[in-house]
Amino acid sequence: MTKKRYIEQMILLITGALLFWASNADGYYGYYVDPKKFGSPAGEICVQCHKEATPGIYNQWKESAMGQAGVNCYDCHRAEKGDPDAFEHKELISIVVSPKDCARCHEKEYKEFESSLHSEAVDVLSKAAGVAGEAAWASVNERAGCIPCHGSVLRVEEGGKLSPDSWPNTGIGRINPDKSKGSCTACHTRHMFSREQARRPGACARCHAGDAHPQGEVYRGSKHGIMYEAFSKRLNMDKRQWLAGQDYFQGPTCVSCHMGAMPPQMDIKNADERIDQALRSVLEGDEQNFKALLAPMKITKRYYGATHDVSSRLAWDLKSAVSEKRKNWQEKRKTMQAVCKQCHGDHFIEQQYRQFDKLVELYNKKFAIPATTMRKALIKDGILTKDNYDDRLDMIYWKLVDEDGRKAKNGAAMMNPEFAWNAGMQAAAERFYREFVPEVRKLMGRKADKFIRKHGYKDSKH
Ligand code: HEC
Ligand code: HEC
Ligand code: HEC
Ligand code: HEC
Ligand code: HEC
Ligand code: HEC
Ligand code: HEC
Ligand code: HEC
Repeated sequence: MTKKRYIEQMILLITGALLFWASNADGYYGYYVDPKKFGSPAGEICVQCHKEATPGIYNQWKESAMGQAGVNCYDCHRAEKGDPDAFEHKELISIVVSPKDCARCHEKEYKEFESSLHSEAVDVLSKAAGVAGEAAWASVNERAGCIPCHGSVLRVEEGGKLSPDSWPNTGIGRINPDKSKGSCTACHTRHMFSREQARRPGACARCHAGDAHPQGEVYRGSKHGIMYEAFSKRLNMDKRQWLAGQDYFQGPTCVSCHMGAMPPQMDIKNADERIDQALRSVLEGDEQNFKALLAPMKITKRYYGATHDVSSRLAWDLKSAVSEKRKNWQEKRKTMQAVCKQCHGDHFIEQQYRQFDKLVELYNKKFAIPATTMRKALIKDGILTKDNYDDRLDMIYWKLVDEDGRKAKNGAAMMNPEFAWNAGMQAAAERFYREFVPEVRKLMGRKADKFIRKHGYKDSKH
């Protein structure tokens, strides 16, 4: 063998060893439930009778992974004495199976869910009392239109019955009788609790759709959504392990980017260095050192498992009128970019993010900051009321920030140019110059120019 050929083979061998290591270094994705925790004998009778009483529920349950494993009705529906919603039904049970109930067997998912903004979706309604919904829904408690997505406080009547104004309810942040927040069935439709169903974009787009949160439409029209549509049957969505780039590669879904697992990240720089070292030791005839280098490399890798904390990969807060970066945003961004790296190169990802950041900053500077500052000043001067939705300018303002702005920002974040531009920035520009500014002029009359220069923008070409 010539020296050159020998070196070539060695390089191949090393690269092979590196890849072998990378592909075998996982095994983190599994979850385990201690069999002692399920299969309670008291649950057998429920199954027997409900096979006849509610065959649909029985069959869904029977086909589900949990039914197959032997998790029975009572394992989930059991209640303790003193639970506000408990009632006698052969055993003491409750209808609501809260995240805390699921947590008896799935603590990790419960904790992640509770630390995400999903669990705050009811609190945010009361904090925002008076904003968008107030005009259409008379009181915070009776917003039937908000509950299916956000949830509400589940109220229990005498005898453990759930009050009809708060039930049925699979809102993402509903507040349960045991005080826990949220609903796992919001995504994991009962009683199949299917992994595949929760991974499909439709599971998210039930709520993430429409003018104020158009992520479903943004995704559907993006290149990613098109790839999903074309190959949705080949994405192995029912597999237990679902690593981006490995178990599927055609294109990402909402879950891939916001929640999904990925294979361990290989540090390429480190690999280059090792190959250099190996080469040097071959050229120097240092066989001992060369052998040591052949041992599987300790990759400075990070493994990102699936997470139920949908907030953990976001750098900006796009839904706010004026978007700001979140705490520890660099780390959050890095995690999201690790997903992209399964299918794209570093440079491509950096460029996409740069364009996205630029659009958010431009929207802030051009529209969100001037409009917000002017509106605040008008409220301070008593020209507008403090009430959020009673003046014409309020309506224009909320459309500008909650609809046009969110379309632009989400469009740029999730690669849909129609939203980033036409429905987003262009609509925002029209709203701002043709409606907002003229309305300010009407309110301020002769003082308008001075007011706009002071609180809005200085440059007349703005
Ligand atoms: C002897 C038959 C029988 C047994 C045993 C039984 N159920 Fe039921 N259960 C029923 C019937 C019938 C209904 C009413 C179904 C309907 O809404 O038409 C019902 C209703 C329910 C409901 C819904 C209550 C509501 O108001 O919506 C739940 C939850 C439930 N059962 C769970 C259980 C669990 C858990 C067990 C075991 C501890 C159990 N059942 C045992 C027959 C039974
Ligand atoms: C993995 C946990 C789990 C298991 C196992 C389970 N359930 Fe449920 N069940 C739920 C959840 C979650 C809900 C929805 C309530 C909520 O939103 O909190 C529910 C709701 C119900 C309801 C009322 C809702 C409706 O659609 O009428 C009935 C009845 C019911 N379950 C019966 C059963 C029966 C019978 C079995 C056994 C064959 C069973 N469940 C097994 C979690 C479970
Ligand atoms: C008493 C224990 C127990 C409770 C309570 C419980 N689970 Fe499970 N869960 C299990 C077990 C065991 C498995 C694993 C089945 C397997 O290995 O295939 C599982 C698997 C799952 C899966 C994976 C399904 C799949 O397709 O592989 C989901 C999703 C899930 N559970 C959701 C829930 C939700 C949501 C709740 C509450 C409404 C809940 N579980 C309550 C024991 C439980
Ligand atoms: C179709 C489902 C859906 C309905 C119906 C809905 N929302 Fe929302 N709402 C969402 C989603 C999804 C978000 C998150 C938007 C985002 O992150 O881009 C949200 C965000 C919000 C926010 C901003 C939260 C924050 O953290 O700043 C407020 C306030 C709000 N909604 C109020 C309401 C009110 C009031 C109603 C009823 C009049 C309502 N929503 C109806 C899905 C819904
Ligand atoms: C926002 C939607 C959503 C909500 C809410 C949600 N899940 Fe999930 N869950 C998913 C998705 C998607 C997956 C599949 C993740 C993957 O493997 O890509 C999943 C997977 C799981 C699994 C299987 C885990 C594994 O490693 O394969 C369990 C168990 C589970 N969820 C339990 C829960 C529990 C308990 C709750 C409530 C505290 C909950 N989920 C709430 C979307 C959701
Ligand atoms: C039942 C309705 C509902 C479903 C289903 C749902 N979401 Fe949400 N989501 C919301 C609401 C409401 C908010 C805003 C909560 C708030 O502002 O407090 C939200 C917020 C978010 C956020 C922003 C979090 C943040 O910190 O700003 C992300 C990302 C998200 N959801 C992703 C998903 C994904 C991915 C899925 C599907 C796997 C999904 N959601 C399913 C209602 C839902
Ligand atoms: C290719 C990856 C990718 C896909 C696919 C994707 N998203 Fe996103 N999403 C992002 C990125 C990147 C951001 C902006 C992150 C940031 O702020 O740094 C984002 C932002 C969001 C936000 C805004 C949260 C806020 O700050 O207000 C929500 C909500 C959201 N996505 C939900 C979804 C839903 C629902 C789907 C599917 C219909 C989806 N995403 C598909 C990557 C993706
Ligand atoms: C599972 C694989 C996969 C993942 C993960 C993925 N993408 Fe893509 N992406 C694709 C494919 C396939 C295309 C289509 C390529 C083409 O344009 O020919 C694409 C296209 C794109 C485009 C071009 C859009 C256009 O309109 O031309 C951008 C930008 C992009 N992705 C950014 C991202 C970012 C940022 C992430 C992470 C937040 C990401 N992608 C995650 C597979 C993926």
